[in-house]
Amino acid sequence: MLIRSASDIPSSEITPEALYLRRRQFMQAGAAVAAGALLPGVSEASARLAAAMNSRYSTTEPQTPYKDVTTYNNYYEFGTDKSDPAENAQGLKTRPWTVSIEGEIKHPKVWDIDALIKAFPLEERIYRLRCVEGWSMVIPWTGFPLASLIRQAEPTGNAKYVEFTTLLDPAQMPGQRRAVLDWPYVEGLRLDEAMHPLTLLAVGLYGQTLPNQNGAPIRLVVPWKYGFKSAKAIVRIRFTDRQPATAWGRAAPSEYGFYSNVNPAVDHPRWSQAKERRIGDFFKRDTLLFNGYGDQIAQLYRGMDLRKYY
Ligand code: MTE
Repeated sequence: MLIRSASDIPSSEITPEALYLRRRQFMQAGAAVAAGALLPGVSEASARLAAAMNSRYSTTEPQTPYKDVTTYNNYYEFGTDKSDPAENAQGLKTRPWTVSIEGEIKHPKVWDIDALIKAFPLEERIYRLRCVEGWSMVIPWTGFPLASLIRQAEPTGNAKYVEFTTLLDPAQMPGQRRAVLDWPYVEGLRLDEAMHPLTLLAVGLYGQTLPNQNGAPIRLVVPWKYGFKSAKAIVRIRFTDRQPATAWGRAAPSEYGFYSNVNPAVDHPRWSQAKERRIGDFFKRDTLLFNGYGDQIAQLYRGMDLRKYY
């Protein structure tokens, strides 16, 4: 398996604190660029992104610099090195794009991505992201709660799980020409996890359209779970009565459980999960149970053995 632990990451890949940009400065620069040369439809979407209200769910911790968020990525459809997605994903065509909502729901629908972005109020959510490899970031996402979409779709009584599928297109996604995973990338949540107000469908970051390497045009963000649960470039959201077979679960079932909640007490079979390196920091810090979101979500797992359901 290709995922590396934080201790394997050379210090040259970790950006010094000095590169940290204050968010406001960045947004001003971004707004100036956006005001210039964009098409009417695109600038309308940009305006909606920039106007997104900050959410009460946001952390106030320092945000990881934009440069790191957009050049240090896991996105195996575009290569397995951290720098590959920023280099190889630029040509991905994210318009036109549709997201099919299907399965055990009363109102199946194929959404055009721009209609979907307009359908629900956008919020900015500054979340911690903890990767299973042992590094973490703080990222200001823009998006809307998945719950808004689910309520509109009205799950039937049979819906117990939600499956998320990434685009399958080896012509555009060179990584899919190699059997690194059994493509397409699939992830899943239990319906109550999917309905939780923290679970976000992100369409932007740092107040701007989501860069391709971060999962444009739409990706999942589940902040109390390891980053791999947050599928990128989603084309299908399917409601099922059975636990979905996820891409990582099929590739290495003993290493990647369905729940994959951040848990410092349950090690990955090949490395400890007790600590993490926040990108930009020199020293490691303790990893928090549920990535520090336990107050909000611990009740979802009451009575469950988290060692068994890892
Ligand atoms: N989604 C797809 N389709 N393919 C991937 O390889 N990698 C996952 C997740 N979503 C991945 C994916 C992993 S391991 C992580 S840590 C996060 O995306 C990284 O998101 P980021 O690059 O926006 O920080």
